[in-house]
Amino acid sequence: MFRKVCLVALLLVPALLHAESGLDAWLRYAPLKQGVAGRYPSPNVMPGIVVTLGTEAPIQSAREELVRGIRGMLNRELRTVSSFEGGGIVIGTLAQIRAAAPDLLPAGTGNIGADGFWLKTFKPGPRGNGLPILIVAGGNDRGVLYGTFALLRKIALGESITDLDQKETPYSSIRWVNHWENLDGSIERGYGGRSIFWENGKAREDLSRVSDYGRLLASLGINGTSINNVNADARVLSPEFLPQIVRVAEALRPWGVKVALSVDFGSPRSVGGLTTFDPLDPGVITYWKNKADEIYRAVPDLGGFVLKADSEGRVGPSAVGRTHADAANVVARALKPHGGFFFYRGFVYDNRMDWRNPKNDRARAADDNFRSLDGKFDDNVFIQIKNGPIDFQVREPASPLFGTLEKTNQVIELQITQEYMGQGRHTVFLVPMWKEVLDFDMRARPGMTTPVKALVAGKTFGRTAGGMIGVSNVGLDESWFGNHMSQANLYGFGRLAWNPNLSSKQIVDEWTRLTFGDDPKVVETVNSIQLSSWRTYENYTGPLGLQTLTDIVGNHYGLAVEASERNGWGQWHFADAKGVGMERSVATGTGFAGQYRPEVAKMYESVASTPDDLLLFFHHVPYTQKLKSGKTVIQFIYDSHYEGADAVVKYVNDWKALKGRVDDRRYSEVLAQLEYQAGQSIVWRDGVANYFFKMSGIADAKGRVGNYPGRFEAESATLTGYAVRDVAPPEGASGEKAVDCASASCTAMFKYSGESGRRNLTVRYFDVNNGAAKFRVKVAGQLVEEWTATDRVPTRRIDSASSARRIIEGVMLRPGDEIQIEGIPEGSETAGLDYIEIQPAN
Ligand code: GCU
Repeated sequence: MFRKVCLVALLLVPALLHAESGLDAWLRYAPLKQGVAGRYPSPNVMPGIVVTLGTEAPIQSAREELVRGIRGMLNRELRTVSSFEGGGIVIGTLAQIRAAAPDLLPAGTGNIGADGFWLKTFKPGPRGNGLPILIVAGGNDRGVLYGTFALLRKIALGESITDLDQKETPYSSIRWVNHWENLDGSIERGYGGRSIFWENGKAREDLSRVSDYGRLLASLGINGTSINNVNADARVLSPEFLPQIVRVAEALRPWGVKVALSVDFGSPRSVGGLTTFDPLDPGVITYWKNKADEIYRAVPDLGGFVLKADSEGRVGPSAVGRTHADAANVVARALKPHGGFFFYRGFVYDNRMDWRNPKNDRARAADDNFRSLDGKFDDNVFIQIKNGPIDFQVREPASPLFGTLEKTNQVIELQITQEYMGQGRHTVFLVPMWKEVLDFDMRARPGMTTPVKALVAGKTFGRTAGGMIGVSNVGLDESWFGNHMSQANLYGFGRLAWNPNLSSKQIVDEWTRLTFGDDPKVVETVNSIQLSSWRTYENYTGPLGLQTLTDIVGNHYGLAVEASERNGWGQWHFADAKGVGMERSVATGTGFAGQYRPEVAKMYESVASTPDDLLLFFHHVPYTQKLKSGKTVIQFIYDSHYEGADAVVKYVNDWKALKGRVDDRRYSEVLAQLEYQAGQSIVWRDGVANYFFKMSGIADAKGRVGNYPGRFEAESATLTGYAVRDVAPPEGASGEKAVDCASASCTAMFKYSGESGRRNLTVRYFDVNNGAAKFRVKVAGQLVEEWTATDRVPTRRIDSASSARRIIEGVMLRPGDEIQIEGIPEGSETAGLDYIEIQPAN
């Protein structure tokens, strides 16, 4: 009997804990709690029938989604029919609904824009044969799908559907994502595993993840995606490759997502057999025309092409003495008869700039390149402009080009994959940052408010189309991004692309409820972590407009303050003994501030009117410069780094309080991520603060920088086998040094001299990605902990990015105890150690 009970209990446990992988993201359709489900009684509020009027693929997807969602949330099976007999959920385009049931939404009751929807309920009455009617009408077939997702979202959030009369039209027509995926299956700047599209030069055999992804995109109203890297492989245009594109397009079509291709400007020569790629050459013009015709024959709804030209080594029109407009128009004209768009990236700059010339400035590049060409581009060309003038840094001003172009279409490019933002290892919710840019008033038309969102949507200067593009780079990991919390960035991007007037709070609140459920404690905690996370990350990386201070010539992840200085990449911040920041004023700097319209230019021209958050982006100032708060720049750098690192410790503790309220799997995966982030934030805090202390010679008024109670450096321990080595850059390790082991096993021994008691012992070690070293910690000869260093980090070197920590809680220590750390290298991992820290146990 006892065994039987145990067996039953065992069988029940997994069901109760219900581990979730994250694959369904915000579309989990988790069963509603009884009280909430009671808001949708059948058939009086929630009909039991779905009437599907259209046969188009997106409408069929809408029906299946509705059935799936209602089954999941309400445990009910909808009956599906294809003609209106009165009563039920009626889904179809407005035209289809008007044809099938002329008196429901008769002509004259209003229209719906492209991709828009109208949700309307009719209470039980004669029209529905005594049953309610719930209409999901779309402006087109995609609109039906978007309306269906909106209805399901309402139910998932427990909102009333009894009195609906809600029309929504997207703010802009282009709501796309881009993918920087290589045909071999690797992803440039992707942190969630390998490509969902490609493997070994072909579309994946199993494209089910592409279809799952299409579903996520459709739920947000995203209607297009490019499917290969902007650093394009010319093979993508070869006839042999076309069937691969066809397969991916087929997987996305039911979700209303068009595919687009990134192309290589040199293709006419490299794969087209011509001797030139000069856009004005008749052979080249014919090449692009024939190519477009050929591709559209196979994929008639292709969205168009994306081009990165004259940037970071990519070939472009400058090589043949032509302008960007010459280049863009030739390709755009080939796409035009098919309704295709051509996205010409504004990310054009010279990465071999002379840093000694104080007038050189990468930030100027986009505006310098495109200003004189305004009005010279065809109407299916869109200049795709990154949000800031540099490159997805933690804080940048809005690109001046948004305000410059009046007679040219534009779209904004945001980055969802967190390239400079912790790469899925740090939680950084980017919606508040994006909103700052989208809401920023460029003062581009006298007497008018001209926020970036209106400019890029084409509203300010009456362009016919425009919108938002997000570099997504999801991967095969079940969590899509390698971090559950990072999914909020894709969600937020899509919601903002649909409606940039939604607030960050509203977006994150929806996301949290849909992703983790509606337990108020969970919602409050997750929302508050997400909403503060950008500022937190900025605080411990590069505040005041310093940009991110990552290794910009390497992995764009770890701390390397000087990586951006004295090279051609132009991400300089010019820190020296006296001051820091890049002078971009017109009066004494590069003149970048003058690329903005006069009112904005005036604000950025002077130190006094530049907002503190961007001070060092626009001005070179002494460390003793006072900010608006009265604090000096140097003290702010110190304080913000401590605040940032403390905030992440709080995230960890807040998250721990959610144990049992979130499914076990995601609970422990997010906890591990936050704990790792907390460890990394300390590396950043110490590294940046020490760098500026060394540079400025000005001490931290609060005495923290350079002073770490309880910390003992590995280089000062008694070492057996371990050798002391310099770390490059030095700020990557405490005391600028580490120890590593070249033999089979090494030890570092520390003698404890404090009082007796339980202590938390932190071991700061290095975990590179080309080996799996083992560590063993013994106290007074007793083993207290052992582990293998196998974390996922983007480095093979002992540096800040590989800096990891192990916290061993509640270790009993007595004066004279030997704390011995044994490192056993494996592969190319040399069991590096930085320090130990001994802190009172809580
Ligand atoms: C960044 C990124 C590159 C990318 C480039 C681009 O520089 O690091 O990987 O190719 O942006 O947007 O084209």
